[in-house]
Amino acid sequence: MKTTPIGIFDSGYGGLTILSAIRRLMPQYDYLYLGDNARAPYGPRSFEVVYEYTRQAVETLFRQGCRLVILACNTASAKALRTIQQNDLGMRVATHRVLGVIRPTVEAIGSLTESGHIGLFATPGTVKSGSYHLELQKLAPHLQLTSLACPMWVPLVEYGEAESDGANFFVEKRVNEMLHADPKIDTFILGCTHYPLLLPKIRKATPGHIRIVAQGDIVAYSLQNYLHRHGDLEAACTKGGNCRYLTTENAETFASTARIFLNQEVTDVEKITLGTMTAHQ
Ligand code: DGL
Repeated sequence: MKTTPIGIFDSGYGGLTILSAIRRLMPQYDYLYLGDNARAPYGPRSFEVVYEYTRQAVETLFRQGCRLVILACNTASAKALRTIQQNDLGMRVATHRVLGVIRPTVEAIGSLTESGHIGLFATPGTVKSGSYHLELQKLAPHLQLTSLACPMWVPLVEYGEAESDGANFFVEKRVNEMLHADPKIDTFILGCTHYPLLLPKIRKATPGHIRIVAQGDIVAYSLQNYLHRHGDLEAACTKGGNCRYLTTENAETFASTARIFLNQEVTDVEKITLGTMTAHQ
């Protein structure tokens, strides 16, 4: 039977932390996860490249039957979401939706900080895009945001070093830098879907009074709310409780790494090609 799964896209494995939270809250739906593992990380890539890769991924998920796609990647949300929403839905504009992770995070953050000072850890691409600042200016201009790029954090997670002693150095370095930049910060946002895997180390390096906010639950509750408000889209999403995975890299490698992110076996994985895939640069 043809299904209409909810599509979840990330450059690699990080979006699995979002998928996991969404499935915990709404296990009834069918999900289709796509990781562009062959071309990850997106963090250091240009706007044009991230946009083109993300556009190909969304198109693929639509062709696979999804009507709703979540960009479970801050870099793709920062660099591609708006253009895709405005220019690329075409004939599908009435029936299909693409949502990101930055707006729901910014919507939630105002109620979490007391000092009004927030620290954002993210990829160089997300920081450079200024997307969090732009959203904050619209939704909560009184909040003070300090952003810090952490180029080493994604590779640490991707290469299975998140729990190694060596990772402590890179985590402590950035946490200290952030608190030096603004000692009044009382809330850290993990603005990259890979970073929850470093959470124990970030927590250890962070003073106890600082709240550390990961995006999984925020995005999950925001999606639940969105589906309540968009009954036609909700009704179109099939409810078989299944999850399939697509990757642009080797399926076995994906399955074994995804197990670390999800803490469970991953079986239904298929390797696909996106657009005319260029070699990893
Ligand atoms: N998952 C991406 C994000 O949330 C980071 C990984 C990458 O750089 O591709 O920004």
